[in-house]
This record gives sequence, structure tokens and C-alpha cells, in this order.
Amino acid sequence: MTALRVPPGPSSLEAMRGMRSMGGGTDLREIPIFLAGVAARYGGIAHWTFFGRHFYFLDDPVLIEEAFVLQAGHYRKGRGIERLKRLLGNGLLSSEEPLHLRQRRMMQPAFHKERIAGYGSQMVAATSEQIAAWRSGSVLELDAEMTRLTLTIAAATLFTSDVAGQTETIRAALTAALRAFPASLSTFSELFDALPVLPVTRRFNRARAELDRVIYGLIAARRAGPAAGQDDLLGMLLAARDGDAAMDDVQIRDEAMTLFLAGHETTANALSWTWYLLARNPPAARRLGEELDAVLGGRLPEAADLPRLRYTRDVFAEALRLYPPAWVLGRRALRDTSIGEYTVPRGSVVLASQLVTQRNPRYWEEPERFEPGRWSGPAPPRFAYFPFGGGVRRCIGESFAWMEGVLLIAVIAQRLRFEALDPAEIGIEPLVTLRPRSAIRLRASTRETASGAVSGTPH
Ligand code: HEM
Repeated sequence: MTALRVPPGPSSLEAMRGMRSMGGGTDLREIPIFLAGVAARYGGIAHWTFFGRHFYFLDDPVLIEEAFVLQAGHYRKGRGIERLKRLLGNGLLSSEEPLHLRQRRMMQPAFHKERIAGYGSQMVAATSEQIAAWRSGSVLELDAEMTRLTLTIAAATLFTSDVAGQTETIRAALTAALRAFPASLSTFSELFDALPVLPVTRRFNRARAELDRVIYGLIAARRAGPAAGQDDLLGMLLAARDGDAAMDDVQIRDEAMTLFLAGHETTANALSWTWYLLARNPPAARRLGEELDAVLGGRLPEAADLPRLRYTRDVFAEALRLYPPAWVLGRRALRDTSIGEYTVPRGSVVLASQLVTQRNPRYWEEPERFEPGRWSGPAPPRFAYFPFGGGVRRCIGESFAWMEGVLLIAVIAQRLRFEALDPAEIGIEPLVTLRPRSAIRLRASTRETASGAVSGTPH
């Protein structure tokens, strides 16, 4: 490569302070604060070095598109995702080319809007069932409730009823496996892997073995049973073909585990923040209720209602803007390349953060304000909003997530309103996804509508 031409940025010492949590320190919350500070100080592209490695942070939609979409072939996934391989193997999220493209081609048809519309009724049914136990006036932990609900839906849409009775086992194992992740993102985690006696490694290995037992069991049962019938995602994985080639059991396990994890944790996060934001913004909650009454008139929603639930969609879009579940994207340069006018040597790390750019005042008016109404105005620049990423690695479950988000908000907000108990803001916990730092505790009460109670209203 010719002479290195890099943009300005923080000194190595500042970067070390800002990112020490990535190196095994204590507090991951410092990372978004550090990145937002870098963007505010240096603008659309900044550079620093950390233990000899070049880092670039992008906060400019044009440059984000250049690196993550147009030049995607010059990069591979970063270290965070690489670490997830311990759990997800070579599933779609963590695999690299050429395997990724082959798998993406095989799986893409199953995620088209028309194909997934059938899952809408399962989403609505699971939500109605869960909220039937909620009592008006009670205080709920919405984040725990949403995780339970999206996990039930992920299990139902992936494995249909095969998994009934095992959802609890899966939930416990998945939670235990994910708990091991902050430690496993640290600098010394390769060492942890080699030391199975460490409690964190032992817990992770046990949880992974438990998940494998359940998923391989489901695959074996499905292969042994009648071939036809199962219109769920596992059925799709078993039926998918690349020419004559099908996936083997290990690949199916990796894809199923990936869909299971990527498909529920993110949506649960987005919905938890949605309830939090609505409870703190009563006018938006009222307007949402009015739309639901006008479109649904008290009946349960279905996939066909989605085009008319515009404001409901805008509420979800706005929650994804302020609290993007996938809050940072990282890539590593496979070769010497460039971004804008700058050189990017092989091995460099390129980062972009939804959490930072989606709140950048250059692209958003009153960026900190929850304002679903902004989505009926002019569209923001491409890649000023990218909760689902972009390019060949764009989220395959995006349509699924929009449907799930809008339907769940519709079912719940049609019947209930939520009241914040504590005026203090809840902070963020940027782990693998952007979780709330403490429980989102809200008081639920039955909504009064012009037409009286809605069918199935909790009492
Ligand atoms: C609000 C919910 C969701 C958000 C915010 C979200 C976000 C994302 C993002 C940002 C990526 C790209 C990661 C990268 O470029 O490194 C991604 C990839 C992916 N997501 Fe989602 N996701 C959501 C829901 C889902 C659902 C419901 C599913 C499955 C049913 C899913 C499955 C996947 C998979 C398999 C990939 C990897 C795609 C590939 O590399 O080809 N996601 N998601």
C-alpha cells in the first residue's frame, strides 16, 4: 500500500480509555459514549490505533454505505461476531463467503413477505395467550415479558409444536449461554476457551450442550417422521436445496440456533423499549390507541392489516431508531482498501453504530425526542437509519421482525396502556444487543375505548 492517509481521531491513550471495556474491563456502557464523543469531535470518519491495530469509526451515511454495502467484499465480520461462533457455529450471521452466500440463497425464499405472512396468526395467538394472565393495575416487568413472548414465537415458528414443553429448557440454556458473552468478548477469552475448569466456560459449555441436545433431537425426530407437513422454519431448512445438495445436520443446527437467537433477542429488546417510550409519551400512546380502534374496531389484528397500521409501524420504527437492538456493526478488512479519500490497511477494524448515527443531529431534528410522527415526513438519508444493517449481510428476518413488532404492539396496545412508575430514565446495557440496564417496570391498566372493552381484555 502507498503512504498511509488516515483521518484525524483520538490518541491511542484516549482510545485505550474509551475501549478498555472491550479488553476485559468492567463497563461496556463506555463504548457507545466513547463512540458518540469521537463522532461529535471528529465528524463522519475518525481513526485511532489500539494495540497496533487501525480502527475507523464511520458516522456518515455515504461512508457507511461505501464500506458496508458497496465494498462489502473487502471485509469480513469483526471479532464480536466471531466469538458468537462458539454458540452459533457457521450459521448465516457468523459464516463467511462462499458458505454464507450459498446459505443465504437457500434460505432467502423462506423469508419473503408472502411466505412469512402465515406466521402472523401464531404471533397474535401467542401474544393473546400471554397477556390473558396480566391483570389491570398490576406492575409488569416488560423486558422479561417480551423476552418470554418472542422466545415462544421463535420456538413456534421454527419448530411448530415439536418444542412445546421444552421451551423452558431452551430459555434457561440460552440465557445461561448469553450470560457468558461479556466475558467471552474480552481479550483473554481465547484463554478462557482453553480452560474448561473456569466457571464461566463450564456454564457456557453446559448450556451449549443442552441446546444441542434439544435441537439435534428435533432434527432427528423430523427426519424420522413423515416428510410432509411442517410449514415451519425447520421444515424450510430441511427442504432447502442448492442444486441437488441439502444441508447436513450440523449446518441445520447452526442455522436453527442462529435464527432462534437472532430472531428473538433483538425483537424482544425493540419491544421492551417501545413500551418504555410509550409509557413516557402519553400523546403518542393515545394516537396509537386511536389508530388501533379505527382500523381494528376491537377485533384481533392479522397480517393483512399491516398496511393500514401506519402509525403502529411508525412507533416501532421510532423505537428502533432510538434504541437499535443491534447497536454497532463491525468489520475487519481482508485486504488493503479505502474509505472515501482515506487508506484502510488490511486487518483494520471498521465500525459504524446505529446508536450513534441514528441520534446524530446532522440527520435528525430533535434526535433525542421520541416522535413517531417524523416517519410521515421526508425519509432520512439512506444509512442515517440502518437498524437492520445493509448489503449482502442485511438482516434476513427484517420482514419477519416488522410483522412481529407491529402485530404484538397492536394486540397489546389495543387492550392496555402502560404507566411509568419512575420518572428517571433507564440506561442502556450494550451487550450482544442493546438491553435496558434495569428492568422496565410499568403499571398496566385496561384501556377505555369509545366502543367499550376490547374482546379478550385482561381484568
Ligand atoms: C428488531 C429485530 C431485528 C433487528 C434489529 C435485527 C438486526 C440485524 C442486523 C443489524 C443484522 C446485520 C448484522 C451485520 O451486518 O453484522 C442482522 C442480521 C441477521 N438477522 Fe436480524 N434483526 C432483527 C430480527 C431478526 C429476525 C426476526 C430474524 C430471524 C427470524 C433475524 C435473523 C438474522 C440473520 C439470520 C442475520 C444474518 C444475515 C446474513 O448475514 O446473511 N433477525 N439482523
